[in-house]
Amino acid sequence: MKTLSDLDLTNSRALVRVDFNVPQNDEGMVLDDSRMRAALPTLRHLLEKNVACVLMSHLGRPGGKRVAQLSLAPVAEKLSELLPDHRIRHCEEVVGSRAEEMARALAGGEILLLENLRFHPGEKANDDQFAGALAGLGDVYVNDAFAACHREHASVHATATRFHPDRRAVGRLVEREIEALDKIVDNPQQPLVAIFGGAKVADKLEVVSAFIDRADRILIGGAMAYTFLRAQDRSTGSSKVEEDHLDEAREILDKAGDKLLLPIDHLMTRDGEVRTGDEITGDWMGMDIGPDTASRYAEAIGSAATVVWNGPMGKIEEEKYFSGTQRIAQAMAESRAITVVGGGETGQAVHKLGIEDKLTHLSTGGGAFLDYLAQGSLPALQVLKGD
Ligand code: ADP
Ligand code: 3PG
Ligand code: MG
Repeated sequence: MKTLSDLDLTNSRALVRVDFNVPQNDEGMVLDDSRMRAALPTLRHLLEKNVACVLMSHLGRPGGKRVAQLSLAPVAEKLSELLPDHRIRHCEEVVGSRAEEMARALAGGEILLLENLRFHPGEKANDDQFAGALAGLGDVYVNDAFAACHREHASVHATATRFHPDRRAVGRLVEREIEALDKIVDNPQQPLVAIFGGAKVADKLEVVSAFIDRADRILIGGAMAYTFLRAQDRSTGSSKVEEDHLDEAREILDKAGDKLLLPIDHLMTRDGEVRTGDEITGDWMGMDIGPDTASRYAEAIGSAATVVWNGPMGKIEEEKYFSGTQRIAQAMAESRAITVVGGGETGQAVHKLGIEDKLTHLSTGGGAFLDYLAQGSLPALQVLKGD
C-alpha cells in the first residue's frame, strides 16, 4: 500500500477522502473537532507542496438525499479556523458541473470541501458512475478517512479503483492508525489485556471472540457484561440484556474459560435509589461496574505489556455512573504498557478526562476500529492494496 510520501504530487490536484463526521449542536456548530485535527498532517503535507485539495466526507446518515442540517458548510468554516493560512471553499454539490468548475478553479494550496457524500445515493451503493464523477475531480487519490474504511462506499472503494496504483495512497492518519492497531493484531507484546464494554453487544461479540486466542485476559464491563452474566444463568434483574445473543455469549465463555473476567460487583439503580452489590435481582438495573471490579481490572491493566480498550464500563452520560470508566481510563493513563483505545463514547470519555496524550494511541474509528481489530484489515484498505 502506498503512502503520501510515495506519491508524485507535481502539478497535481489531490482528491482526499477525510472523515469529518463530527458531532454538532442543533445550530450545526462543531462540538468536537478531533477528527478534523487528526486529518491535518495529511492536509498540511499536501498544502505545503502547493497541491490543490478537493476534500470529500460524509456527515451523519442522510440516506441518499439532501438534509439541510447535515450540510458540510459549518465544517468548512471550522476547517478555515484550523488552517487560517489557506483559502477554503465549500461546494453545495457533491458531484456535477458546479463541483467540476470549482475544482478546476482551485489554485495550489487551496482547499475545496465537497458537500456531504451521503446526499448522493451513489455513495452508499458504491456506484461506479458516481465514483467516476468523483475521480474526475482529482488526479491523485488519498484516503485519510480511517473511520470510514470499514464501509464499501463509493468514495473509499469504487473511487480508489479508478486511480492507477501509483496515483493513490493512504494519508498520514490512516498510516498512524494501522501502525498502532497492528501492535495489537500482529504479535503483540505479551501479556495482552483486552477490555470491552459499552452497549452494542451484537456488534462486539466478533471482536471479543477474536481476542480469545490473542489475549491473556479479556475484561468485560458496561451493559455487555449483563448479557454474559445472563448466559451463565446469573441474575441480572432488569439490566440491559441482548437475549438474541445469549448462545454466542455462551460459546465465547466456554472457549475463553478463565481468561475472561466478568464484573464481581455492580452499581445498580431502582426507583431513583443507587446502591452497590454483587447480585442484581428483581427490578434493580446494573449501571456501572462496582469498585471491587474496577480494582481488579485496574490491577490486570497494571501488569499488562499491551492493553486495548473499547466501550465504557457504565452509563457514562450520567456522572454517577462514570466512576468505573474513570478508574479504567486512569489505570490506562498510568500504565507503561502500549495502550490503544477506540470507539465513539470511549473516545469521549478519554477526552473528558484529558488523558489522550498518556495513551499510545486513541483511534478515530468506531466501527472501523473494531473491524480492524477483529479482521486485521478493512475493505477500503484492501482495495488500495490491489493493482
Ligand atoms: P463505543 O461507542 O465506545 O464503542 P458503545 O456505543 O458500544 O461504545 O456503548 C456506549 C454506550 O453504552 C454509552 O452510551 C453508555 O451509556 C452505554 N452503557 C454502558 N454501560 C451501560 C449500562 N450498564 N446500562 C446502560 N447503558 C450502558
Ligand atoms: C463513524 O462515525 O464511525 C464513521 O464516520 C462511520 O460512520 P457510519 O457508521 O455512519 O458509516
Ligand atoms: Mg458508540
